[in-house]
Amino acid sequence: MTDLERRQDRAPVPSGWDYAPAPEARDIVTLQERYGVFIGGELVDPRSGEHFETLDPSTEEPLAEVAQAGAEDVDLAVRAARDAFENGWSDLSPAERAKYLFRIARILQERSREFAVLESLNGGKPIKESRDVDLPLSAAHFFYYAGWADKLEYAFPNRKPRPVGVAGQIIPWNFPLLMLAWKVAPALAAGNTVVLKPAETTPLTALLFADVLRQAELPAGVVNIVTGDGRTGAEIVKHDDVDKIAFTGSTEVGKAIQRELAGTGKKLTLELGGKAANIIFDDAALDQAVEGIVNGIYFNQGHVCCAGSRLLVQESIYEPVIEKLKQRLKTLRLGDPLDKNTDIGAINSKQQLEKIQELVASGEEEGAEIYQPPCRLPERGYWFVPTVFTNVAQSYRVAQEEIFGPVLSVLTFRTPDEAVEKANNTPYGLSAGVWTEKGSRILSIAQRLKAGVIWANTYNRFDPSSPFGGYKESGFGREGGLHGLEPYLEFDDSKGRSQ
Ligand code: NAI
Ligand code: MG
Repeated sequence: MTDLERRQDRAPVPSGWDYAPAPEARDIVTLQERYGVFIGGELVDPRSGEHFETLDPSTEEPLAEVAQAGAEDVDLAVRAARDAFENGWSDLSPAERAKYLFRIARILQERSREFAVLESLNGGKPIKESRDVDLPLSAAHFFYYAGWADKLEYAFPNRKPRPVGVAGQIIPWNFPLLMLAWKVAPALAAGNTVVLKPAETTPLTALLFADVLRQAELPAGVVNIVTGDGRTGAEIVKHDDVDKIAFTGSTEVGKAIQRELAGTGKKLTLELGGKAANIIFDDAALDQAVEGIVNGIYFNQGHVCCAGSRLLVQESIYEPVIEKLKQRLKTLRLGDPLDKNTDIGAINSKQQLEKIQELVASGEEEGAEIYQPPCRLPERGYWFVPTVFTNVAQSYRVAQEEIFGPVLSVLTFRTPDEAVEKANNTPYGLSAGVWTEKGSRILSIAQRLKAGVIWANTYNRFDPSSPFGGYKESGFGREGGLHGLEPYLEFDDSKGRSQ
């Protein structure tokens, strides 16, 4: 047997082969011991006098103390925003507003490594994701909306667009800086001012962003940042002088906000949860589809509202897909979020880990079959092994509820009609994926799926020019694209008043 022949039945990579550690240096980040709230262009001590610790979820080590802003702090932030709105920002020439947005975008690019390291430290996501996804997309959102700032008359012809006023923005912990960018960029481009509250577990990149605003010389009070938990968020929602609320988070809190705002005339957009179907037809390119399945549910530890958490596989290809998927899961590297080779980082918080554990236990109790690749978890920190459930019935909680973790539930179908019916059998309607070689099938299935975003032969792709948002319990209103400006504008006609 020649050497070449002998090699053919060997794996291309020896089985014991592993990556050497490749940690990103964290000394690019300088943290303060304690942070105040960013109001009127200054980081000031909170009137509440309260602070709480923010952690590195991969080690449980405290990183810094941040303010638990109270009603008085929120009031000061709203006053600063109102003052900035009335005394300069809303009257500024649109091209001048754009200049600030371009500056912010460029500074984010220049400081992207610092932001990426901090995002991974405070949130647990792998550095390759914060470096290659969160940061480039955050900058892209500011660039994109900078471009619209002086073209609103053309974007909305004959409708006389004007800013709404003070926007209260409440964001979650899964994409802390990116969600900030999704909210702040269109609000400023449209001439509004902002009071933003980051999530309680991930406040640090928002506080570093305050430094970017100072560097960009954004006028004081145009963006104010108050940290704290849900109580701080609730103060923003009920403040009389806030004109618009933009919220991304749980359906439960979204519904509470909607009830609170009913009848007040305040504008509202809600980006809530999801339980997306990722549908694989038997003519799909299977290896690519498996990559799409992995990206769909294990990207960002599955802390993704549009995650492809329900896999719908056509029955005839069920076995090869599951086999390939299991093989692929064995190659995922879980560990230090700052290591450049890490695929799966830490779960964002103890609370979220407990929620995932509880739902996974329910899946096993209800009779689903669990698969987890061999994987050693670090001793400290919050971790969860990438998990696949097969033999899942539609009624199981793991097929119904948003897990928001690295857990995939697999269901099967025989016909396109059955795929559509199962995919739509959810109270959510945020996203979906379709995998098939047939273009006509992509179009026909996409038209019948009740989801705001549908990917074909790919998954979890984002672009600032593409609107994002849901149906049903996934919320209403769109972020991104031209549509993403509408909620931040008033018009002379009646169109667009509903949001
Ligand atoms: P959450 O909805 O409680 O938190 C999101 C944001 O809302 C945070 O900034 C929080 O401080 C704020 N908030 C909480 N209560 C509030 C209130 N009453 N008024 C105003 N603001 C309030 O979400 P949580 O508890 O962090 O996660 C629970 C579940 O929600 C997750 O397991 C996941 O299923 C879902 N979720 C969905 C997200 C999405 O992107 N659609 C993001 C985060 C969570
Ligand atoms: Mg909550």
